[in-house]
Amino acid sequence: MAISTVSKLGAIIRSPIGKKLVTGITGLGLVLFVLVHMLGNLTLFISADAYNAYAYHLENWGPLLYGIEALLLVSVLFHAALGIEIFASRLRSRPRVYADYVSAGQKSADRPSYQSVSSRTMIITGTLLAAFLVAHLLTFKFGSYYPGEVDGHQARDLARLVIEKFQQLYFTLSYTAIMAFLGLHLRHGIWSALQSLGVLGQGVRPLVFGLGSLLALAIAAGFVALPWAIYAGFVG
Ligand code: HEM
Repeated sequence: MAISTVSKLGAIIRSPIGKKLVTGITGLGLVLFVLVHMLGNLTLFISADAYNAYAYHLENWGPLLYGIEALLLVSVLFHAALGIEIFASRLRSRPRVYADYVSAGQKSADRPSYQSVSSRTMIITGTLLAAFLVAHLLTFKFGSYYPGEVDGHQARDLARLVIEKFQQLYFTLSYTAIMAFLGLHLRHGIWSALQSLGVLGQGVRPLVFGLGSLLALAIAAGFVALPWAIYAGFVG
């Protein structure tokens, strides 16, 4: 790809609109990931074998999985970097107003305000989720390997690791706190991403805000249910 095209792309991504668009598109991609990831983890409610079979068949996607993982990694890096840049540029452009915005939750121009604890804490919940992700991958993806079996094949007993972790109260409590932050981040993130993509007409905004909040709640609740079911002894 010609240098000029790459630099044009770079210039678009660095433009205020470009940053919001890329943050929105990567954000929606990550929402889809956590939704699928949450549903996948709920297979542990069926049985440990079902959970291990799910992970085993996913692993067997081979290059397709590596491609998805690479896309996931690039999305997280772009999303985080541009999210920080947007926050920093707002702080730079309006430090005084921004302080008021953070503390008072101002109404904007006679339209219903979508400012909330979620919107005012995006940089905080985003940073906490980024730190969580590193710890999470070290714990599970690159964590202890317990040999198991799926359909007669040697496979990882991932269920044993997940159950082992969430039988510890501090682990279950910390995941519950993180999922609350995830819910807050998604509650504003889903709506804001759709807003940035310019797909929200004035009339549908309240509805989309409501549906986005429900989806955020469902994803966070689905992630919280598993650790507590394991800790309470219903699973595992
Ligand atoms: C109770 C909540 C969760 C549980 C039980 C859980 C469980 C797991 C497990 C067992 C793996 C390893 C999969 C493997 O190696 O095949 C994994 C990977 C991963 N998790 Fe989670 N997870 C949870 C929440 C989250 C959340 C909230 C996020 C994002 C904010 C997340 C992001 C990831 C990512 C990016 C991977 C790597 C996926 C891959 O490379 O295939 N997880 N998770």
